[in-house]
Amino acid sequence: MGEDGRVAASVVASQAALHSRYGGVVPELAARRHAELLVPVVRAAFDEAGSGWADVAAIAVTRGPGLVGALLVGVAAAKAMAYARGLPLVGVNHLAGHVMAALLGPPEGERAQPAWPAVALVVSGSHTDLLRIAADPDDPSRPGELRRLGATRDDAAGEAFDKVARLLGLGYPGGPAIERAAEEAGPKRAGFALPRPMRREGYDFSFSGLKTAVALLWEEAGRTAAGRGERLRRELAREFQEAVVDVLVEKTMRAADEEGARSVVLSGGVARNGRLRARLAEACAARGLPLAVPPPRYCTDNAAMIALAAHLALARGRRDSLDLDADPDLDFEEGPLAAWA
Ligand code: KG4
Ligand code: ZN
Repeated sequence: MGEDGRVAASVVASQAALHSRYGGVVPELAARRHAELLVPVVRAAFDEAGSGWADVAAIAVTRGPGLVGALLVGVAAAKAMAYARGLPLVGVNHLAGHVMAALLGPPEGERAQPAWPAVALVVSGSHTDLLRIAADPDDPSRPGELRRLGATRDDAAGEAFDKVARLLGLGYPGGPAIERAAEEAGPKRAGFALPRPMRREGYDFSFSGLKTAVALLWEEAGRTAAGRGERLRRELAREFQEAVVDVLVEKTMRAADEEGARSVVLSGGVARNGRLRARLAEACAARGLPLAVPPPRYCTDNAAMIALAAHLALARGRRDSLDLDADPDLDFEEGPLAAWA
């Protein structure tokens, strides 16, 4: 990332192919592959940016939450780089990174400027969080205090997509597979309805009951003469996606209304979902609220969003020492950006 907060290069080494045969991420394999790929990825980023170590002003790293093995590899490498080059080090909360991704455009390369306060929905494989981000009192064009309004009580939205895809035999990662199957189902209504868990209650979410409802219908179909046809598989995928999107959109818009939001932010891996993007855009347009969504490649995990969070924290004078530790259970401190980034 350049000094102006623009992305100079973005390289992502996806491990999806490695883990797909196991139907989910295998932590031990993830950590080992992380260690193998780290140096080549840094080199590739330098190549893409046409720069080298002399151009680097600081090192940013995700310090949590997440899988401990992968976090340890990243933090150890970042500390080594910071020490060897005498550079400042900033440990970033992964969730803060996802929120910041909404400032990475579109358009690609431009910095989006959501109006604060904003309500942010972060939906990934490990998070379903509804957040309120105030304006920075010193500079209202910048994000300030962050407060969590609600979160999932069981499965994260992306986790629910992955689990439902697995039980329908649609493969891993589940989100894109469900989205494709839902498109293939077409618009005709299915002969069953799925629940919308906690739709009207507070700001928390619950997706495990929805997953169970899909599992029961799928099992039941296996016992009938018609069996588990391709059509039912696609309809279940579509109805599941509709149910998740209904709940996410309804709660986000209620939060936006009640919290006096001037914009809505959507991010995290599930924000790649076309149906969610379209439905939330429609709901925001109906209220005249701008919606900030990162380009798809900055929705799923990437280093650009971590660099941007660190960039903003550094500007506020935040630095971490070489004692920085990975924290797999890291939450965020409710408070100003510089503290939680
Ligand atoms: O943010 P991310 O890359 O990693 C985490 O921090 O978890 O999110 C990955 C999650 C996976 O659960 C994946 O199935 C989901 O994002 N995802 C999608 C789509 N693309 C990725 N979910 C729904 N629709 C998609 N198109
Ligand atoms: Zn993530």
